[in-house]
Amino acid sequence: MTDAEIFPTRGEPAAAVLEQLGTLRAGDIDWRSGRAFSLVYHPDDAELEELLHTVGRWFLHENALNPFKYPSLVTMEAELVAMAADLFGTVPKAGTLSSGGTESIFLAVHTARSVGDQRGIVAPNIVTADTVHPAFAKACHYLRVEHRRVPVRADLRADPEAMAAVVDDDTVLLVGSAPCYPYGVIDPIPEIAAVASGHGTLCHVDACLGGWLLPWWERLGEPVAPWDFRVPGVTSLSADLHKYGYAFKGASLVLYRDPALVQHQWFVYDAWPGGLYGSITTAGTRPAAPIAGAWAAVRFLGAEGYLRKAAQVRDATAAFRQAVESHAGLAVTGSPDLSLFEFGATPHSGLDIGGVGDVLDERGWNLDRQPGGLHLMVSPYHVHVVEDFGRDLADAVVHHGRSRGRTAGYGGIADA
Ligand SMILES: Cc1ncc(COP(=O)(O)O)c(C=O)c1O
Repeated sequence: MTDAEIFPTRGEPAAAVLEQLGTLRAGDIDWRSGRAFSLVYHPDDAELEELLHTVGRWFLHENALNPFKYPSLVTMEAELVAMAADLFGTVPKAGTLSSGGTESIFLAVHTARSVGDQRGIVAPNIVTADTVHPAFAKACHYLRVEHRRVPVRADLRADPEAMAAVVDDDTVLLVGSAPCYPYGVIDPIPEIAAVASGHGTLCHVDACLGGWLLPWWERLGEPVAPWDFRVPGVTSLSADLHKYGYAFKGASLVLYRDPALVQHQWFVYDAWPGGLYGSITTAGTRPAAPIAGAWAAVRFLGAEGYLRKAAQVRDATAAFRQAVESHAGLAVTGSPDLSLFEFGATPHSGLDIGGVGDVLDERGWNLDRQPGGLHLMVSPYHVHVVEDFGRDLADAVVHHGRSRGRTAGYGGIADA
């Protein structure tokens, strides 16, 4: 293609376009093989996948911007909020759907800043552990809120006392994760929420990752530390349907204890010649398919389906941990609470964890890199590949070279 041909002069037949797309995606992760982690949550459910494809086709072109034109979308969003509120122990109407965890977090930070505005706070800050997802730093950066990051305790969980020490009159929000991404541990939410309510401040639980798994984990009889609206002082919560809710991408929920708080998300405007414009999330035009897809996933699975998937995730997680811990030179970091963990080389083992990761990469596994080692996030389908993983890991432990120095986590910066 020459520069003059960058913009196609003529359209191409659909078959030719698809052929090119096939070539383009040849280098993408084949998530169906079960060797992808954290970017795709493989539900191991062909019927669910088929259903979501149909729903995606039905709602591909609809626009949730104007609720009066698409009452079906309003109904589905309201029902999703109500179902999640029921699951997490709060009021059925106090929340909205968003495009993902990052947007839910933006909206929660915006709401806290807006409450701070009403109280006359001009230089607001939020207080989090240093293990919170980068979405908080990003929200603070965009919304011009100071982000006070506090080191975690020795058990890798947020330190409520250290957080309390940096709270001041300008603090508009304290945050805990359930669980945090790097180590999969749940922060001490009751203590963080108590610090927040002691200061008359809001408290957000980032359950983007755990929100759609922890309720089932608890019902399976696994130990689950308190994390949701049953904890006094928790005022908002984010939970992603496009993670362990098994919906397709573009679906998360932000929920509030007090329905008055969600009102802070409204933006209403009439100072232009285009008539009254209003929206309650950051997008203007809002894709309909993720709303319908999330609604369909929850209706299709129901509590029974989610419990079945959670049991599969639990069993697969135990098997992955076993595969890692069967090597004296490898250790899981901390005491992860859920379905994700980091593992690294033990001191004096002589293992180069980056080199181990390189061999796993060559065998098609896509583990994320963190400063402390490799990161695994388990989905239901992984139960089928854990034996292969164990074999490849054992090989990698014995036969690996020096690390090629790859450092890329799951978050989009490429290296080597
Ligand atoms: C704990 C946690 N919070 C927030 C997010 C951000 O979610 P998203 O990538 O959907 O914006 C993630 C993503 O993995 C996460 O693990």
